Amino acid sequence: MKLLINGKQVTVDVPDDTPLLWVIREEVGLTGTKFGCGKALCGACTVHVDGKPKRSCVTAVSSVQDKPITTIEGLEATDGTLHPVQAAWVEENVPQCGFCQSGQIMAAVALLAKKGKTVTDEDIDAAMSGNICRCGTYPRIRKAIKRAANAMEEPK
Ligand code: FES
Ligand code: FES
Repeated sequence: MKLLINGKQVTVDVPDDTPLLWVIREEVGLTGTKFGCGKALCGACTVHVDGKPKRSCVTAVSSVQDKPITTIEGLEATDGTLHPVQAAWVEENVPQCGFCQSGQIMAAVALLAKKGKTVTDEDIDAAMSGNICRCGTYPRIRKAIKRAANAMEEPK
């Protein structure tokens, strides 16, 4: 089957019900997306499908065949410029062990694509509370989201 990942078409030969996470990591070789719980509980495997955050560990690959998929590797510009959310993560030194951070960033990017500068603490709570960080980097995640929001345009 054909998939569109980070703007590139890839062809994979896997059963329809294979989790998207497995395909991204094992078939396509993009290992920035992490396996945490495998049960849609932690958010480590978050990618975007059609611009919306999706838990790839419980998403059958056949269900996303015709949709654009973005992973953490697809966020930066082709010239290597970091996405504003990635840049804010660096500025705020967010990661500790780093394992959850790909999923955190993907969730934050989707949130800010919707809310931009208008993002509130409540919005952050609602969008991010399902992304678990065992290192407890939540305060820095919040600061980085606000920093990135300030660097972004108003939503249209
Ligand atoms: S690995 Fe998918 S939500 Fe935890
Ligand atoms: S930085 Fe270690 S789990 Fe989040």
